[in-house]
Formats: sequence, structure tokens, C-alpha cells
Amino acid sequence: MKVTVFGTGYVGLVQGAVLADVGHEVLCVDVDEAKVQGLRAGRIPIYEPGLQPLVADNAALGRLRFTTDAAEGVRHAEVLFLAVGTPPGEDGSADLRHVLAVARTVAQYMDEPLCIVNKSTVPVGTADRVAATVREGLAARGLALEFDVVSNPEFLKEGAAVADCQRPDRIVIGTDSARAERQLRELYAPFNRNHDKLLVMDVRSAELTKYAANAMLATKISFMNEMANLAEQLGADIEAVRQGIGSDPRIGYHFIYPGVGYGGSCFPKDVQALIHTAHSVGLRPMVLEAVEQRNAAQQRVLFERILAHYQGQLQGKVIALWGLAFKPNTDDMRAAPSRTLMEALWAAGASVQAHDPVAMEEARRLYGQRPDLRLCASPLQALEGADALAIVTEWKAFRVPDFARMAALLRDRAVFDGRNLYPPELPARHGLHYVSIGRPAAAAQGQASGQ
Ligand code: UDX
Repeated sequence: MKVTVFGTGYVGLVQGAVLADVGHEVLCVDVDEAKVQGLRAGRIPIYEPGLQPLVADNAALGRLRFTTDAAEGVRHAEVLFLAVGTPPGEDGSADLRHVLAVARTVAQYMDEPLCIVNKSTVPVGTADRVAATVREGLAARGLALEFDVVSNPEFLKEGAAVADCQRPDRIVIGTDSARAERQLRELYAPFNRNHDKLLVMDVRSAELTKYAANAMLATKISFMNEMANLAEQLGADIEAVRQGIGSDPRIGYHFIYPGVGYGGSCFPKDVQALIHTAHSVGLRPMVLEAVEQRNAAQQRVLFERILAHYQGQLQGKVIALWGLAFKPNTDDMRAAPSRTLMEALWAAGASVQAHDPVAMEEARRLYGQRPDLRLCASPLQALEGADALAIVTEWKAFRVPDFARMAALLRDRAVFDGRNLYPPELPARHGLHYVSIGRPAAAAQGQASGQ
């Protein structure tokens, strides 16, 4: 099928490449000239395992093309995806400027019936607004072409985007049009072979499904973070509690890891947008508000522990930081807990020496000018001359560190672990004062080995 994707961000680019890979003819459109030039030359603007070869191979076969020409994009399409950004507005509501701009463009250039599919995460009712915008644009041209606007939310996870998109656990299609359903069944047939993963529902339910999924996952995390704080005060160990509750299949082991709060481009933005939507229809979403508040507080937990350790005096301290990305296997630092921590440390007069396996470039782009940030080439280099270490992202590279070297390098031999990477007795045995989330703090035992 001939497919056009508007927007080459995480969702659009991965979707385009994965559809091309099964044989569809895909044209990706973006307004960013430099990005399109780069993509044509095989440069992928994001770090995402497996994406580079997928784009390169399909581009070489001519099945995946990139353009800034919106008219060409609209005319190419039998199915046209909207995968442009929906950044949060001032008040937390989703900003639909880009989505509606593409809808106007579609109306300007379409000259045949079209299936318009929304992949961006948008508030309930957006498909209707897109349809109205297209209808108006067509009327202004004196046309009455047929078109459908379908909601087809994307559930991919960053860092596993290609795999998630190639093997979705469900494909949600929101439409009441039999024609659109037929077209999308054909489009997704290669991904829908062993059992039917297509869930066809009304448009508004599909739109809400995406928010409900993210809000439920965010709720699990905020709930666990609250339990972790409670466990700490009560002298319990959240890791034991986590295993104890995860063993109940109604709860499950997934997404109950306590930590430094959720980050990324989806959960913070989508929970806020859903709160805003609830308010707009006169409801007070009490659970969602609590999820959001717990997360804002949780993102500050490591800072507060470090501050308490130094009795409120962080001026001149050097804090090493392991992990800048909001989670492993991505270079994305949007709403990353590392940023909350660094910004709080800087405001308190401390400086930061950070290492991340892939997000160093992104950190340089965001904070490159700051004199109180040093980006270090390796985890151990970040410890040289540092007083204490904070661990923010659970990269594999941090899982089995050389505790003796750590104890030798860190002036105060203090480790604040926001991801519970080690059994507390292990760093303690090497003379490190080890503080993690929801577990009893482990004081250093004896002298540091390696001294
Ligand atoms: C999420 C959803 O998983 C995905 O389905 C949706 O399409 C987009 O949003 P993503 O933002 O890529 O994906 O990351 P995810 O792996 O879900 O992690 C989100 C955040 O939650 C991260 O900051 C992570 O560290 C945190 N998290 C996750 C926890 O703190 N504890 C957990 O148990 C799981």
C-alpha cells in the first residue's frame, strides 16, 4: 500500500521504517529540512537499537523515502499517518497545533479519497477536530471528497521501539467506518498473522485507551514509590515487598520497580494532559493528581538524601552522576530525573561529573555551556575527584562495578542509588555508605578495601 507518514520523530520514523520493511511504499514527510537531508543520507536523529539498518536497507530498496514536500506527501497516500508532536502547553494540556496544521495541509492537497490515521497521542475528541478541519479545507476548495479519520494509538517503548512496532501486543483501531477498517486490516496484515491482535472500537475509546494505558502504568510506578518511602520509614525492605506482591498474577512483576520517578516523553506529559482533560469536563481526577504529585516529589528524592547527608551544605561539593537518559537504551533526556537532580544540585552550589553510555551528546546539547557540569568518558572517570555518587539510570554498564575502586576514588565514599542496583551489603562491605530507595541504608563496614 502507499503510505505517507507526517512527522519523523520516534513514532513516525519507526512506524514508517517498519511498514516499509514489510513491503509498503512509505513516504515520510517532515518540515525540518536538515532532518530530512540527514535521513536521506542515512543519519538517524535518535538513538534507537536496530533503527539505523532498518532505515538504510529500506531506503536502499526505494520503499522508504523522505521529503519536505507536503503536497507530494498527501498525493502519495492511500493511508496517511499523523505522527507529529503534541507537546504540553503552558497548562499541561496537549498542544494540537502541529496535528491541526497537518490536517489543513491534507485538505489543501488531497484530490482522492483518503484514510487519515492519527498515531500521535491526542486528547479524546481530536479525531473529530481533525475531520472538521479537513472538511472545512476541502469545502474552501469547493470539494467534497470522502475521507476517514481513524485513531490508531502507538504503544511503543523507547529503546525497544523497533521490536515493539514489529511485534505489537495489540493494534487498536478506532473507527466506525467499515472502509477504514478494511484498509487498516490490509495494512497491518503482516503484523497480525498468528492471532487477531486488532481491537476495533469507536474513535473516542481508542483515543482514551492510549491515555488510560500510560496513566495506569504511571500509577503503578507512583504507587510503588509511595510504598518504598513507607517501607523505609517502617524499617521494611521494598525489594522483598515488590517480590511479594509481584507473585500475585493480578498484580504482576512488570512496572513495579521503585526509583527516582518516571520520566520520558510520554508519562509526565500524558498524565498531565489527562488531568487537564478531566478538569475540562468538570471532573476532579484524584488518583491522577496523586500520581503526578508523587512523581514530582520522587524526582527530588535523591537530591534530598544527598542534601541531608551533607547537612544542607552542598556548596562546593562534587557529585558524580551515573546515567543521564530517562531510562536505559535511549539517549532521550526529556523529563529525565537526572535533570531534576542536576538542576537541584547546581542550585545548591554543587557541581556534577556525569557519565552516560549514550546520552552524552544530548547532555552537551542541553547543558554544554555550564561550568558546573563535567561530562566524563567512563563511569570511573566521573568518580575522580568526586565526593559522592548518585545513580539515576539502570544501564547494564553500572550493574557490576568495581566497588573497591569506587571506595578509593570517592572522597566521602557515599553512594546514592536511585535504582536499587546492588544488594546493600555489597557496597557496604567495600567501605561505602550506600543509600537506595525503600531499603534500609547500609553503613560502611570497616575500612574501604583497595585503600
Ligand atoms: C511509555 C510506555 O511504556 C509506552 O507504552 C508508551 O507508548 C510511551 O510511554 P517509554 O516512555 O518509552 O514508554 O518508557 P517506559 O519503559 O515505559 O518507562 C517510563 C518511565 O518509567 C521511565 O522513566 C522508567 O524509568 C520508569 N519506570 C518504569 C519506573 O520507574 N519503574 C518501573 O517499574 C518501570
